[in-house]
Amino acid sequence: MKSLVRLKTYYIASAVVLLVYFLLRTAMITNITTDPDEQLVPRVDEDDAGSLEEEYPQGKIPSESCRKLFEGDQKEIRRMKKHMSQFTPKVITDQEFVMLTKDCEIFQKEHRYSMTVNEEEKNFPIAFSILLYKDVVQAERLLRTIYRPHNVYCLHVDAKSQPSVLRAVEGIARCFHNVFIATRLEEVIYAGYSRLQAEINCMNDTLHRKEEWKYYINLASQAFPLRTNREMVQILKLYNGANDIEGITGARLQSVSQRFNFHWKLTRNGAIYKLERSKIKKNPPPYNITIVRGSAYGIFSRNFVEFILHNPAARALLSWSRDTYSPDEFYWATLHHLMYNPHLKTPGGYAGVPDKKAWLAVYAAWGGVDPCAGRWMRAVCVMGVGDLHRLIERKEFFVNKFLYDFEPPALDCAEEWIRAKATFAFPFDLNYYRALPFLKK
Ligand SMILES: *[C@@H]1O[C@H](CO)[C@@H](O)[C@H](O)[C@H]1NC(C)=O
Ligand SMILES: *[C@@H]1O[C@H](CO)[C@@H](O)[C@H](O)[C@H]1NC(C)=O
Repeated sequence: MKSLVRLKTYYIASAVVLLVYFLLRTAMITNITTDPDEQLVPRVDEDDAGSLEEEYPQGKIPSESCRKLFEGDQKEIRRMKKHMSQFTPKVITDQEFVMLTKDCEIFQKEHRYSMTVNEEEKNFPIAFSILLYKDVVQAERLLRTIYRPHNVYCLHVDAKSQPSVLRAVEGIARCFHNVFIATRLEEVIYAGYSRLQAEINCMNDTLHRKEEWKYYINLASQAFPLRTNREMVQILKLYNGANDIEGITGARLQSVSQRFNFHWKLTRNGAIYKLERSKIKKNPPPYNITIVRGSAYGIFSRNFVEFILHNPAARALLSWSRDTYSPDEFYWATLHHLMYNPHLKTPGGYAGVPDKKAWLAVYAAWGGVDPCAGRWMRAVCVMGVGDLHRLIERKEFFVNKFLYDFEPPALDCAEEWIRAKATFAFPFDLNYYRALPFLKK
């Protein structure tokens, strides 16, 4: 009965939207055809309009402008880029977060944390982890966009972060029953083992919580969602317990084999850490395991996370990888890809050819392969306003990366878009996902 009422409401709402659309269209057409002077009025080049600051005093980009950017409107992209330099993003400092989170009710409301989910979402909680070091303003933006009251969120604050970062994150976590800081905080060294250990800490913490989450998704704080929570749930239900982990073998694996064939040594000089390759060859991995390369990020089923924490072979591989380079980029992949490691019988693992299957956890544009209208940072594209139009067609769950202070309207519009999709629960074509080769039957 309830669903029938909802369906009716949906149709009425759709009809109203269509009606408004046609009225507007008619009005526009009438406008063009009834204004004989239109052609004679010298056109003001919109590129020369006032600064964005004057136009949008609250720093809020109007949805019409976002729409044009998402449509790949070159003129709007140029206009935004031109005025971007005068546009100061709203940056909330760590101290301000401490103040703002003293009143949680107002904080949740003003930062638009979503408290509503449908029945299907409620029955399918997801655990997320976010690794952060600084820029709480960006991590919080990610958190508020993916936040739902029945999920669980583990925040790993780098042990070498400024104390103010931890205080700001503590303030945020205190405002939500399902957001917490990892109980053990690692000093995360680039490409070092501690990055992997930080993730294991969050995994262990989330397993010990009461929320009965079904999947675990790990995120960098510069990542941003491309799917709404509802869409993620719909896709994850199709996955049906399968993990979604990247797999790289062959030449692209061989080119980095020194990362795990040699013993790597971490040295410290003041605050500077250096990971150096030694001449000492490592023993082969334990349990007759063959290394497969992948990403540090992935979508992990609950059984897989339990396997990582308790399975003897998984534990042994973790210890073995302590003195390797960037073990987070082969640890999940090695355990997951059963074509190379069938004897592990990994829950949610995949037995097909690793390099041939889609991987949908995170979309990143890579230098030399993908286009990028923003700027490059360590061979990864930082998305700008000119990249938005490419994002709406992507199938991935998240995109990496945005930077809050690089072309700020890009992130503003991305947030508005994902919020609109969630609010109106747009229908979403699942056929692409139904045809994926790695779903668990
Ligand atoms: C997981 O957490 C528990 C306490 O919550 C702790 O006793 C245990 O050592 C942890 N295990 C790992 C592998 O970190
Ligand atoms: C190790 O694995 C390979 C194939 O992956 C297999 O041919 C070999 O027999 C295994 N060795 C042991 C000792 O299990």
